[in-house]
Amino acid sequence: MAKRKKKPLAQQKPFRVRSARFSDEDVMMRILALADPDDPAPFESSRTVLLRGPQGPLSHGRALLLVAQHQDGAVAGALTAAPPDWIVNHPGVTGEHNQAALINRLGTVHGIAVDEPYRGQGIARALIAEAERYLSRQGYGLITLDHRPDLTEFYARLGYAHGAQLVIHTPGPLIAQPAHTGMIHSFKPLEGNVRLRMIPGYPEPMVSGLVSRTHIPEGTQFLPGRGLFVPRGA
Ligand SMILES: CC(C)(COP(=O)(O)OP(=O)(O)OC[C@H]1O[C@@H](n2cnc3c(N)ncnc32)[C@H](O)[C@@H]1OP(=O)(O)O)[C@@H](O)C(=O)NCCC(=O)NCCS
Repeated sequence: MAKRKKKPLAQQKPFRVRSARFSDEDVMMRILALADPDDPAPFESSRTVLLRGPQGPLSHGRALLLVAQHQDGAVAGALTAAPPDWIVNHPGVTGEHNQAALINRLGTVHGIAVDEPYRGQGIARALIAEAERYLSRQGYGLITLDHRPDLTEFYARLGYAHGAQLVIHTPGPLIAQPAHTGMIHSFKPLEGNVRLRMIPGYPEPMVSGLVSRTHIPEGTQFLPGRGLFVPRGA
């Protein structure tokens, strides 16, 4: 009988990604601070969330706190995500119904960082991939984040499109949320129904299908002063 060829073993990663625990508090805060070195305590709100302990729908209620633990035992990277705060104050997002619709569909990475000795091993890629899986399992349709322009290529490698603003088609007005000053927005659909569309007349990609009945039909144009225009029969 012919000998069967042995399949090569999948290469084991030297780290694993898991939900953050209360005991990760200090190391997680130190690592996340690398993402915002100008702020003395940039992620203090995540500390409070961590102290509340694990609960659904994400790892810590409405927040997702992940760490990457290296096989040497050290916590080597961290990520925090949640629906973006701007939804609550955005003038285009009116009424509890519309706020809830977006809060349940839009997840934003507020911070991600990898401790210097552990960079270049795929830890950030694995943290982002786990955040995408986690959010998608809970019904989120889009993941977004604001970052420095020099990281645009990094997020592009992970499949993210980018723009100066995030533009979402809703049952009401178009919602355009600019990136913070000097930053870029990157975003990625988490399901097939959600698409990024370039609409003639508008310079940035638009998010179509994030909320129900917001698919942008083929043939749609953007008319300045009027908004989206769908030709008859489209
Ligand atoms: C940016 C950062 C998170 C990357 O972490 P990392 O674990 O080294 O990244 P990975 O090893 O997972 O890299 C994933 C891919 O991105 C590439 N990459 C990593 N850093 C990059 C950078 N600064 N610019 C462009 N590409 C980059 C890698 O080459 C790799 O590509 P490949 O898989 O196609 O070969 C890390 O450098 C860091 O913590 N920086 C300081 C904090 C920070 O700026 N956070 C981002 C805030 S938005």
